[in-house]
Amino acid sequence: MSVEPGTYWPTLLQERRLPAAAAADPLACAYLDFARPERVVLGHLGQSLDGYVATLAGHSANMTGAANIRHLHRLRALADAIVVGAGTVLNDDPRLTTRLVAGPSPVRVVLDNRRRLGADYRLFREGPPTLVLCAADAADGATLGRAEIVPVETADGSVAPAAVLEALGTRGLKRVFVEGGGVTVSRFLFGGCLDILEICVSPLVLGSGRRGLAGPAPERTDEALRLEGCRAIPMGADMLFHQKLRPG
Ligand SMILES: NC(=O)c1ccc[n+]([C@@H]2O[C@H](COP(=O)([O-])OP(=O)(O)OC[C@H]3O[C@@H](n4cnc5c(N)ncnc54)[C@H](OP(=O)(O)O)[C@@H]3O)[C@@H](O)[C@H]2O)c1
Repeated sequence: MSVEPGTYWPTLLQERRLPAAAAADPLACAYLDFARPERVVLGHLGQSLDGYVATLAGHSANMTGAANIRHLHRLRALADAIVVGAGTVLNDDPRLTTRLVAGPSPVRVVLDNRRRLGADYRLFREGPPTLVLCAADAADGATLGRAEIVPVETADGSVAPAAVLEALGTRGLKRVFVEGGGVTVSRFLFGGCLDILEICVSPLVLGSGRRGLAGPAPERTDEALRLEGCRAIPMGADMLFHQKLRPG
């Protein structure tokens, strides 16, 4: 995929300036939701029509198309911090850097409650600063490769999303992009810690696989979390659903 030329939305939005031509573009408006000066947390998942974010074996490359991949890089360029769960590092060994658009790479944050990840992953060996957030009793050192280990308060044996945001906030990391996987985005959503939820649905049927969102099961549909004001934004053959969860 080619690199987006010149200074584009991410750089402009860092300064909260939109080119006039982009003001009517629903995607540009979605970036404005994220590019607010106060703390804002955006969770994104790319999923199949039947609600999976990866195969059962954990393969998720090309789940969504090129337009959504570029969108992810724009969000990275806008973010102070990008958060993923240990399962994503284990399966994908991602770099989580901004490569397809102009703009900086965010601080990378891995939630690894029980410290099950070794130092061999790319996040811990190369690239921008990386933090590993874990339970206090699992923090058995100050570093993992080049990454810094940060003990965080736990609730029900897991690092509470609110404590994650608190720890990032004390480091001045206010614009937070939770990029996956399903377990992690679900914990932030059902923990009341997301300001924006984005789901990009691809016309792909996996049959079974790793779940996207999963949470408490309502008995009746009218007890479910019904989202209002959701914007559907076509992205090639995919459809991005962009939902603000709080006013602002
Ligand atoms: N399609 C997409 O958008 C997308 C994006 C990213 C990844 N993926 C795919 O998704 C799969 C991984 O997703 P997943 O849902 O299985 O795992 P995940 O969300 O990446 O990681 C889940 C694990 O991260 C740790 N974790 C998450 N939140 C935590 C918290 N608040 N506190 C402490 N630890 C926390 C936990 O580790 P412990 O169990 O050790 O406590 C948890 O089991 C991979 O196959 C990857 O390829 C897809």
